[in-house]
Amino acid sequence: MDLKNVFENNKVWIKSKLSKDQEYFKELGKGQNPELLYIGCSDSRVTAEDLMGLGPGEVFVHRNIANMVISIDLNVMSVVNYAVEHLKVNHVVVCGHYSCGGVKAAMQSADLGILNPWLRNIRDVYRIHKNELNAIENEEKKYDRLVELNVQEQCINLIKTATVQKAYRDRNLKVHGWVFDINTGKLIDLNIDFEGILKNIMEIYHLD
Ligand code: CO
Repeated sequence: MDLKNVFENNKVWIKSKLSKDQEYFKELGKGQNPELLYIGCSDSRVTAEDLMGLGPGEVFVHRNIANMVISIDLNVMSVVNYAVEHLKVNHVVVCGHYSCGGVKAAMQSADLGILNPWLRNIRDVYRIHKNELNAIENEEKKYDRLVELNVQEQCINLIKTATVQKAYRDRNLKVHGWVFDINTGKLIDLNIDFEGILKNIMEIYHLD
């Protein structure tokens, strides 16, 4: 890839935006008011705004390997805190995707160096749901299911935070789990039972 093209593309993009709205960048410069926080995978095939048909200013984005929400990851926790408490987003989405390399790596027993502690969190998801996963004989289906269960667990990790619990109580913030199907382009809502999970985990994780 010739990186010169990126700058040429940028010029074309600016022109196309300004042709529709002369004030486009002036408006962008005024600040942001997104309604959605999107936590997705760093995978180059799973773009955030593109697949949702959203543009600049509409979604606050955090991406890491396998869309993880880890309580001691200062990065994701700062993003959640800022988006929920300061930008006051109404929805937090964890979006996983089929054919996720991070999830696949976690399914294999191997020493992957610096990735070990990160993937450990996905291996923990496997351990929690071992009976269900081991009952699936088809490897591809098992892989897809772990992707879904990982999204669900990361939603639960969000619900465990005081930030999310407070915003739910005060202004009905919602948490959603989605999967992007790379093979069809389709976005699938896993219909995570946000309120059910919240009630269920409050016994141990009630923080607000
Ligand atoms: Co991925």
